[in-house]
Amino acid sequence: MAGASQLSIPVILGTPRQGRLSEHVARVMVEQLCKRGHVVTTLVDVRKLDLSSMDAGEAIKDAGFSESMLRADGLVIVAPEYNHGYPGILKHVLDSNLKEYIHKPVGLCGVSAGGFGGTRVVESLLPVMRELGMVSIFWDVNVSSAGKAFDESGNLLDQALPRRIDKMLGELVWMARVLRYGRDNVAVSDPSTSMMCSACGAPMNQHAQKVDFSSPRTADPVFYGTLQEIHQCAGCGNVQMRPAVAAQ
Ligand SMILES: Cc1cc2nc3c(=O)[nH]c(=O)nc-3n(C[C@H](O)[C@H](O)[C@H](O)COP(=O)(O)O)c2cc1C
Repeated sequence: MAGASQLSIPVILGTPRQGRLSEHVARVMVEQLCKRGHVVTTLVDVRKLDLSSMDAGEAIKDAGFSESMLRADGLVIVAPEYNHGYPGILKHVLDSNLKEYIHKPVGLCGVSAGGFGGTRVVESLLPVMRELGMVSIFWDVNVSSAGKAFDESGNLLDQALPRRIDKMLGELVWMARVLRYGRDNVAVSDPSTSMMCSACGAPMNQHAQKVDFSSPRTADPVFYGTLQEIHQCAGCGNVQMRPAVAAQ
């Protein structure tokens, strides 16, 4: 979470491939976000996150990435289409967090060599976004024939791209504001006892319950996973999760 009137919207560049054209698209995305005075952004490059491939999920959290997701009010994912799906490393990175994403909007940008603008990677990401607790928006960005959108040096040739990006960002920012208000102020209809923020001591707002399937040992027989409460601190932006009491 950025300052009271500012929104934090990081951009995840979802491929480590050498020579990736998605990097140019992500750069334009960051430039367009920076033009919005009330938005702060950073580029999160999956290539720079050295997550273990010997484990998965929250066990391999990268502290910097988790902090960036926890502070985020929304997210943009720039994902190339690889064999009609998303790069495995992007999923590996996304799977390393959960509570950090909940009730945050996500804008998806597909990049492809072919003529469908990464629509298949966008479609394949949607159920993942939903299960991670993010809120997908109805604007996407699609970059077809990515090789023609930039010159050899990465300079933008497709002059319509910033306008298309901007339309998506307009909707994303609106959703980010609304959902930030909701996380801070609107409680679930059946909140449990309030939780105090471990960072600043203020009472937190319980804005969601979410089944966490990553710990089969503590699975609730009703929900087949662990039912977790998600609490947000309006004061400092901290997010905490704790198992819900059994009756709920
Ligand atoms: C493993 C792999 C699979 C790919 N599969 C597709 C595909 O299914 N459809 C398509 O249009 N382009 C495909 N491409 C091309 C990429 O979409 C293209 O390289 C584009 O520039 C985005 O990826 P990039 O950021 O790695 O450059 C594939 C590229 C790779 C490396």
